[in-house]
Amino acid sequence: MDGIQELKAKYLAEVADAGDESAIESVRLAAVGKKGEVSLKMRELGKMTPEERQVAGPQLNALKNEINSAIMARKASLADSALEERLRSEWLDVSQPARPSQQGTIHPISQVTEEVIAIFADLGYSVAEGPQIENDFYNFDALNIPPEHPARQEFDTFYMHRDEGDDRPPHVLRTHTSPVQIRHMEKHGAPCRIIAPGRVYRSDYDQTHTPMFHQVEGLAIDKDISMANLKWTLEEFCRAFFEVDNVELKFRASHFPFTEPSAEVDIKCSWAGGQLKIGEGDDWMEILGSGMVHPKVLTAAGVDPSEYQGFAFGMGIDRLAMLKYGIPDLRAFFDSDLRWLRHYGFASLDMPNMHGGISR
Ligand code: DAH
Repeated sequence: MDGIQELKAKYLAEVADAGDESAIESVRLAAVGKKGEVSLKMRELGKMTPEERQVAGPQLNALKNEINSAIMARKASLADSALEERLRSEWLDVSQPARPSQQGTIHPISQVTEEVIAIFADLGYSVAEGPQIENDFYNFDALNIPPEHPARQEFDTFYMHRDEGDDRPPHVLRTHTSPVQIRHMEKHGAPCRIIAPGRVYRSDYDQTHTPMFHQVEGLAIDKDISMANLKWTLEEFCRAFFEVDNVELKFRASHFPFTEPSAEVDIKCSWAGGQLKIGEGDDWMEILGSGMVHPKVLTAAGVDPSEYQGFAFGMGIDRLAMLKYGIPDLRAFFDSDLRWLRHYGFASLDMPNMHGGISR
């Protein structure tokens, strides 16, 4: 049959030149598509004599097959080079270190709370908690602060709203962590050794007071606990917390309704050059309130004062943080200023534990 060699040469060349899928498809349609040149030629077979057909039929079939396989081969080779190109351009170095990402920091309050817990845990204390919305029985009455007691005024208490006609006893935002003493003894009885860190609230705002702040309460009740145990415990705590061996504490007689006798504790410090140093100089700074738990408080919590006695103390966590880490203004603690948080915050792995070495 005429022209077969020419068709073959023409289409194989076009296939070889086709640079992408759509170019190949156009060649395919022009050659072996329904109206392609090869297909049209195949239609002519019908008009041929049987002898002519016997020669031309296989030739056309062979041509069609050859063009089809050339198309397949070209497609495969195009796909290969596309893959090569991707592998070359999309290469990435998995050994490169990751880009640094901004990490958050531990707030000084959280840090100091953990430090205090770690030190008291080492002394055998467990952590107790109580609600921040208290009723006035736990916040005041059970702590030997009856309604007419002047200490109720001193606390600048936030009272919860009461609807008219609702004459349930008032709820308050707890003004101190001391109510946790009552709740704990009521539930677990004596003996006990706990600390209770947490938020407390008073209506007060200046450089050293915020309406919400943090305290940690301590309570140790047993059959033979004395003021000497209180003194040793607090000295031991201060040595560990401030990381100074020669801390000196002064127990100053004071008054709290829930302890008898009561003592406020001052720590020896120096303010030389405007910088606070614990354990040096001859200044004294108040750091906590403490005393022997009042028998009425034990009774209110269901513990028999003729059998048990013990000590309690309460200190400001925020104040401890200011002292230890030299932070001058309490209000900044709660402003959520990222610059402040990055400056005063702690790395997340900087958490204290005894084997990690709080120096003692
Ligand atoms: N609750 C007292 C306050 O907020 C602090 C305090 C003083 C707690 C003496 C005590 C204590 O447990 O014994 O001012």
